[in-house]
Amino acid sequence: MSKFYVTTPLYYVNDKPHIGHAYTTILADVLARFHRSNGDEVYFLTGTDEHGQKIQEAAEKRGVDPQTHVDEYVQNFQNLWKKLHIDYDDFIRTTEPRHTDRVKELLQELWDKGEIYADEYEGYYSVSEERFITEKEAEEGDFREIKKLKERNYFFKMSNYQDKLIEHIETHPDFIKPSTRRNEVLGFLKKPLNDLCISRPKSRLNWGIELPFDKDFVTYVWFDALLNYITAIGWRNDNDKFEKWWPANYHLMAKDILTTHAVYWPTMLMASDVQLPKTILSHGWWMMGETKMSKSLGNVINPMDFIEQYGVDPVRYFLMRDMVLGQDASFTEDGFIRRYNSDLANDFGNLVNRVTILIHKHFDSKIPQPGKFDEVDLELIGVAKSTPQIVRKHIEEMKIPDAIEVSISLMRNLNRYLETRAPWKLVKEDKSAWSVSATTLFLSADILRIGAQLLHPVMPSRIETILSILGASKIPINDVSLGLLKAGSSLGEGKSPFPRIDVK
Ligand code: MSP
Repeated sequence: MSKFYVTTPLYYVNDKPHIGHAYTTILADVLARFHRSNGDEVYFLTGTDEHGQKIQEAAEKRGVDPQTHVDEYVQNFQNLWKKLHIDYDDFIRTTEPRHTDRVKELLQELWDKGEIYADEYEGYYSVSEERFITEKEAEEGDFREIKKLKERNYFFKMSNYQDKLIEHIETHPDFIKPSTRRNEVLGFLKKPLNDLCISRPKSRLNWGIELPFDKDFVTYVWFDALLNYITAIGWRNDNDKFEKWWPANYHLMAKDILTTHAVYWPTMLMASDVQLPKTILSHGWWMMGETKMSKSLGNVINPMDFIEQYGVDPVRYFLMRDMVLGQDASFTEDGFIRRYNSDLANDFGNLVNRVTILIHKHFDSKIPQPGKFDEVDLELIGVAKSTPQIVRKHIEEMKIPDAIEVSISLMRNLNRYLETRAPWKLVKEDKSAWSVSATTLFLSADILRIGAQLLHPVMPSRIETILSILGASKIPINDVSLGLLKAGSSLGEGKSPFPRIDVK
């Protein structure tokens, strides 16, 4: 048994969550469920980023104070996660004292150690990214609103850690995944790294954590938020808990916030004498056509509407099945329906119905007693036996679509096996054929159970329905050995929870 600590980004509570946020959180949930079912001890952390300019502006726009705003908007996230069956272990809000107290202590310590210094700085400031940008970035980048600012501020000596960070990335191939993103970060680090401006004068922004050594400033929202990954697990508060979980196995996020996680965060940890996380995993974007789905572009899919219409598990399935790690993916209702109908309604759902209807009709709703296995049976058994291992390997390598595909392909194999055997014809023939169809249906039901169990982390609720239809709800989810459905045990009621979606 080992430990598995996985995190999502802390989402800004300036607006409602959309499919993009749902994706990262479902991915973390699938990994957490998979590791739990493997017997690992799991800590799955998510939460909300509640300070900074974006939040202050959102509250101003609504005419409420920021605390009232965040207290209301955090519920949009918590409600959606509940709806999506997200089984997190902890939800951290950056306005909680368990977080803010530690951030203040660290700021003071870094100031005392000389890791933070004051300086006057004149430069370009991106309002949307809430940070100073270089002249080159200002010329080339896509920053909507840029201001020229001259300000006294506080800076973290990030540049001191540039060489150490490069060395860490080079000697730890799994530190940033996938490798394309790792190369991007190494490319970024070829240029001199600036120190990081970690303060905002209260004249511009007062919704943040006050600098303990200068009451006229609050800290930069990222210098606050990133620390959640250690404050949530008891850093400098509950040492046993911290030692147990840190370093994180995975920080999950999309590529938009890779630099903050792969450059700012490790250097902050180095300055604080804390070990670095094991893997920073950056996935692609869900796109609407050619553009990123994003709140500011106003082209988002509201997950609540989609779930109401199609159900939670099909949405979880589609998001996990259709995004290859590291690549962008396109979200369309047509694509969703096509995937649902082909994998879930046809391959999986029809199989559930076929197998259970035949057992109800010809075997008195009881799992038949198998006879001797022949070559065709043994070939199928071979595939079924090797599948769980392959699924496990894919998940460990973060190839979630491949893991799903292998499980669905087991269903396709079963469908073909049934076509070859045609038990619906055999049962009409003489008694000797009965034992063949009994064997066929016994194997089909048992292997179908294994395939279903392998998909449990992705679709926990509907898989449980299917397992109860197969009379397998008492079999431990992680036990995928063959032969656990006992001959003579009764099937449950019901039919496949994946009815076909008719396309208008
Ligand atoms: N508050 C910061 C993160 C701080 S972490 C210490 C932030 N929040 S955010 O609300 O903008 O969330 C960004 C994250 O949401 C992305 O990194 C990604 O995980 C998810 N996504 C938002 N839009 C997305 C897509 N269109 N596609 C995929 N993921 C998306 O950044």
